[in-house]
Amino acid sequence: MNWIQVGTLEDIPRQGSRVINTAHGEIALFRSKDDQVFALNNRCPHKGGPLAQGIVHGKRVTCPLHNWVIDLESGSAIAPDVGCAHRHEVRVAHEVLFLALEAGACKA
Ligand code: FES
Repeated sequence: MNWIQVGTLEDIPRQGSRVINTAHGEIALFRSKDDQVFALNNRCPHKGGPLAQGIVHGKRVTCPLHNWVIDLESGSAIAPDVGCAHRHEVRVAHEVLFLALEAGACKA
């Protein structure tokens, strides 16, 4: 896997997000209250809403457009909604963030 350095934990507010532009499009990095970091394509599986502008709660984000709830670990929409946002692996080492970009469809 090809890991790229994308900043530090401090760059993302707790229960907030940050968007980075990559060759695979916009990726949203989310930080949970307990400092876990997740990365999803910044496109809601419903109508492509900007997930990074949503509300982070627990390990989920609520899309700002029509309130679908997306699981940050899998990228899957919470039932009854269906679909997923493609997720990417993130690693935090000494507060430095590394992202492994993978092309392809979501795996939900
Ligand atoms: S675009 Fe995200 S809920 Fe509709």
